[in-house]
Amino acid sequence: MSNRKAVTLHRLREMHAAGEKIAMLTCYDAAFARVLDEAGVDSLLVGDSLGTVLQGRPTTLAVSIEEMAYHTGCVVRGNRSAWVIADMPFGSYQQSAEAAMRNATLLMQQGAHMVKLEGGGWTAPIVRFLVDRGVPVCAHLGFTPQSVHALGGYRVQGRDEAAAATLRRHAAELAASGAELLVLEMVPAALARDLTKSLPIPVIGIGAGVGCSGQVLVLHDMLGLTGGDFKFVRNFLDGADGIESAVRKYVADVKGGRFPDDALHSF
Ligand code: KIV
Repeated sequence: MSNRKAVTLHRLREMHAAGEKIAMLTCYDAAFARVLDEAGVDSLLVGDSLGTVLQGRPTTLAVSIEEMAYHTGCVVRGNRSAWVIADMPFGSYQQSAEAAMRNATLLMQQGAHMVKLEGGGWTAPIVRFLVDRGVPVCAHLGFTPQSVHALGGYRVQGRDEAAAATLRRHAAELAASGAELLVLEMVPAALARDLTKSLPIPVIGIGAGVGCSGQVLVLHDMLGLTGGDFKFVRNFLDGADGIESAVRKYVADVKGGRFPDDALHSF
């Protein structure tokens, strides 16, 4: 068993200040939480991607807060030292800040250290409301899977100047509202690099290039279990001895700036 110290918000800030890359993976159960934690993953994201990955649904939209709370509890019980983030599912924070707080409470009571919610602009007051009440928040911009229908499918975001300017504004507002992390999904690598330099908080990329402060992938994608052919995914089980060694390779490649390779995995 590793004797790594617990990853805290303070430690994440330290890593950011020191330029140490943050390695994050999604995780949905205790068995994988144990393996990922032992392999040195800094942060486990209980993603609502469990709707597609575990439940076989076409999108994340049907995932409920009860399901998120259940999987958060499973991950927390398997984890020892990684920072655990739980996704607020679709419909759990859109109505009001009070509803968001009620639902965030269910995740924090299961042992989540932070909640994540998607979108910019209208979400800033909700982020502020949660942060003021002791709930650390990770924001999520770029391609936001809960808006897949509104966005017209799985498309790279922020490609033109107007869209890039909106993204920059939303990111700055979310950081000013107290968000402590930002996940940036499927945006051009150059924009993500720029944004990462300009923001005071760590930016965790997925399909956003190597210039981010860290990376996240869906666990089942990086183990080659989902059969998806997203450009930004690499199968780390290919050529590895087993799951733990695949995850260790992912951590080493993220920390060493070898994943993603902008020529292969970025936009
Ligand atoms: O739900 C999820 O897995 C996510 C990642 C894609 C960042 O939000």
